[in-house]
Amino acid sequence: MKVLISEKRIAERIKSLAQEVRADYKDEVPIFIGILKGSFIFMADLVREYRAECELDFMAVASYGAGKSGTGVIRMVKDIGANIRKRHVLVVEDIIDTGLTSNYIRQYLALRQPKSIEFVALLDKHKARKIDINIKYTGFKIPTNFVVGYGLDYGERYRQLPYVAICDD
Ligand code: IMP
Ligand code: MG
Repeated sequence: MKVLISEKRIAERIKSLAQEVRADYKDEVPIFIGILKGSFIFMADLVREYRAECELDFMAVASYGAGKSGTGVIRMVKDIGANIRKRHVLVVEDIIDTGLTSNYIRQYLALRQPKSIEFVALLDKHKARKIDINIKYTGFKIPTNFVVGYGLDYGERYRQLPYVAICDD
C-alpha cells in the first residue's frame, strides 16, 4: 500500500472545490446526492466546506462483482427520498472509472426532471473511460491503478483510511 494523495492534499483540494461549487450555485439551494458507499467521507467533508444552504440525500448503486473491476451491469440498491423535480442536483461520487455508473445515475435522475444535474468526483481515472461523460468538478486526475481509502474499498476493506493509497493486494 502506497500513499497516492495525502490527507492534507485532499483537505486543501476539497476546500477549493467547495468554493467553486458554491460560487456556481450562488443563491440556489442545490441537493447534493452522495453515491454510497464510496462517497460518504468526501460528501461529509465537501458539505462542511460548502458554507451555504444545501440539502442532502443518498442513493446506492452496485455493479455486479466485488473485485477490482465492475461488470458494467448496474443496479439500484437504494433510491433517493427527495423530490428533485425542478431542483439543482449535484451528484457526489468517489471515483469515475469507466463512467458507466455515472452514466446510469445521470439517466436515472434525469427521468425525474431536475432543473440541472452536475457531477463532482473526488477522483477521476480519465484514461479508463468507456463512455464520454461530463464531470463538471474533479478533485484529482489519477492513473488507472486500483486505489483505496477515503471511502473507497477493496472487498469492503480500507474505506476508513484518511488518505488515498494504491492497493497492490
Ligand atoms: P465506473 O462505473 O467504472 O466509473 O466505476 C465506478 C465505481 O467503481 C466507483 O464508484 C467505485 O465504487 C468503483 N471503483 C472504480 N475504480 C475504483 C478504485 O480504484 N478503487 C475502488 N473502487 C473503484
Ligand atoms: Mg467498491
